[in-house]
Amino acid sequence: MSDLASAFRMQALGCARFGSLFYEALLNRAAEDIEARGPTLSLMSPWANATRKEVFADASHLRLMGGLHDLVLSGDDPALAAAYPREGRATNIDAAWTAARAAMVTHADQLAAFVTHEPQTNEVRRSAVLLPGFLQIAHETGLPLATFEIAASAGLNLNWDRYAYQLGDRAWGDPASPVSIDCDWEGPAPALNAEIKVISRAACDRRPTDLTDTVQRRRLLSYIWPDQFERLARIRAAMDLAVSLSVKVEDADAVDWTDHMAAPRPGLATVAYHSVFWQYMPSESQRALAAVLEGHGRAATAEAPFAWLRMEPAPDNMARMELRLTLWPGGEERVLAEVHPHGAWVKWAECQGRIDARP
Ligand SMILES: C[S@@+](CC[C@H](N)C(=O)[O-])C[C@H]1O[C@@H](n2cnc3c(N)ncnc32)[C@H](O)[C@@H]1O
Repeated sequence: MSDLASAFRMQALGCARFGSLFYEALLNRAAEDIEARGPTLSLMSPWANATRKEVFADASHLRLMGGLHDLVLSGDDPALAAAYPREGRATNIDAAWTAARAAMVTHADQLAAFVTHEPQTNEVRRSAVLLPGFLQIAHETGLPLATFEIAASAGLNLNWDRYAYQLGDRAWGDPASPVSIDCDWEGPAPALNAEIKVISRAACDRRPTDLTDTVQRRRLLSYIWPDQFERLARIRAAMDLAVSLSVKVEDADAVDWTDHMAAPRPGLATVAYHSVFWQYMPSESQRALAAVLEGHGRAATAEAPFAWLRMEPAPDNMARMELRLTLWPGGEERVLAEVHPHGAWVKWAECQGRIDARP
């Protein structure tokens, strides 16, 4: 039990660090409730004896937060909705916690069912991190792109070239796009003038979110922290755009799908890319996927180049997120940037260089 409460407190620190003071407060209150053997502990009973590492691996505390937010978004608990953060209004944390604790009793069955599901997230702002990587590939190859997103969730980062960006004081993309993304930028400009032509886009996920399904769409939304209004507005706009464009994410495992789908072809720069996914694969799958990608790389030629672009934690430091690129022929692995986990900032070039480790 003490591990469970301490995991909640640790997550509270993380939420404060990444901009949610509301979740910082709510998670701390929930930790106290666990120690007082209140309704939070009942709902978290599957993890009552879990280690802190196991709680984090399952993101069980975020499942509970997601379940509460889902009650707000669905309108199933008007009292909770009335107490939750709303743009332009200060949140009373005592009132919000009282309503959340009451909801854990009133909607215990609904919340218990919600927390059995693995969390599903799709962060649109990561497109701002991937974009300079795509620009670099287009700049170096001078070819149109065939893109393959591995573990795309709902596929919101498949539309990276259809968004409007503000990277520090530099703009890129369609200013009329319904999705606009800003990102603090440190370092020299990326290859903003490279011609981007996306010839094809495909994606897989072992559990894709169907955005035309109301419950799945709301579940994805519920994992956005409720006091992050800008993120909520952005993901809603990106979801609407994806539905209007009939974006498709195939229900498939990363290794086989990448093997069958993403081989290089002449006249195109084939790009396999992923963000915040590597850690969810067992190590044998990581090795198998790296072998598939390197196999495609070995098959690449100057007329049919192959790129592996990824935004993932540094292999030796999970807390440090990086954008890496390996481009074949050649196959030199480069760290292009250090980046914020949700795409709020990019430190470009400062850390560019050759490295040996992966991912
Ligand atoms: C944290 S989410 C990130 C989603 C998206 N890439 C983003 O950055 O917003 C991790 C995703 O990896 C998917 N995933 C995990 N293991 C997988 C596998 N072996 N094959 C395909 N998808 C996988 C999950 O279903 C989930 O959608």
